[in-house]
Amino acid sequence: MNQPQAALVTGAGGALGHATAARLAADGLDVALLDRDTEALERTAEEVRKAGARALALTTDLRDAAAIESAVDRTTAELGPLRVLVNNAAVYPARPFLEVPLSEYEEVVAVNQRAYWVAAQAAARRMTTTGGGSIVNIASITMHGGWDSLAAYVSTKGAAVSLTRALARELGREEIRVNCVSPGAFPTAAEEIHEDPEGYTRHVLDHQALKRRGRPEELASVVSFLAGPDSSFVTGQTLEVNGGWVMA
Ligand SMILES: NC(=O)c1ccc[n+]([C@@H]2O[C@H](COP(=O)([O-])OP(=O)(O)OC[C@H]3O[C@@H](n4cnc5c(N)ncnc54)[C@H](O)[C@@H]3O)[C@@H](O)[C@H]2O)c1
Repeated sequence: MNQPQAALVTGAGGALGHATAARLAADGLDVALLDRDTEALERTAEEVRKAGARALALTTDLRDAAAIESAVDRTTAELGPLRVLVNNAAVYPARPFLEVPLSEYEEVVAVNQRAYWVAAQAAARRMTTTGGGSIVNIASITMHGGWDSLAAYVSTKGAAVSLTRALARELGREEIRVNCVSPGAFPTAAEEIHEDPEGYTRHVLDHQALKRRGRPEELASVVSFLAGPDSSFVTGQTLEVNGGWVMA
């Protein structure tokens, strides 16, 4: 029998994290789920189990580096060698740049940037001893041209791409691949920041080449590709999943 292998998904209570965890479970991985929202985590855990995989739901505040370390420890102890890390959690408070208090900026950096670093380091330290693995960071279409009132968020998403390249360069010799997925506009909780949802949908469809909204599963399938063996010679790349809005 093959040894069980584990994936860890941060922000697994959110829409895209939920779909990603379910897809990795369907791919045959046991999945550790990290989020601060315990109820949402349980919903994702149920989905993972329905796919026939083991789920480890760990309520975790990703601003806490020690908590991330201990979640990675529990993942390897309870699910087996960590093969895949998906750094997916994010916060996106909307406020004009000139009005953003430093504390809010620091919160965004802590979740969207520092936690990606901490989780990647904790995961890679284990992957180097177990034959390698795959790390996927989640960026955002907004990093290309900015977005009104989201400066802190946008800057952390650019950082996800640079982190991806830096780690891919350094970890390749350890057979650890590091890639990035940059989602366009998916209809999830993230859209609640827009005051006029219908107007926003029109705006999205005007800009996309594909004239329909993306589904979270269509993001998850690209993460699955980068996480798995079909992309074994791909590292340091960013894949845009945006229905042809930005073509980079
Ligand atoms: N939905 C979109 O259209 C879209 C577009 C571009 C990029 N993205 C990116 O995709 C990823 C997932 O987005 P989503 O739409 O599923 O968002 P979401 O808000 O539904 O999910 C984010 C999850 O992160 C969790 N989280 C936030 N702060 C945390 C903390 N301190 N500790 C633990 N968990 C915390 C939240 O509880 C939530 O479950 C994010 O990185 C986001 O930037 C999404």
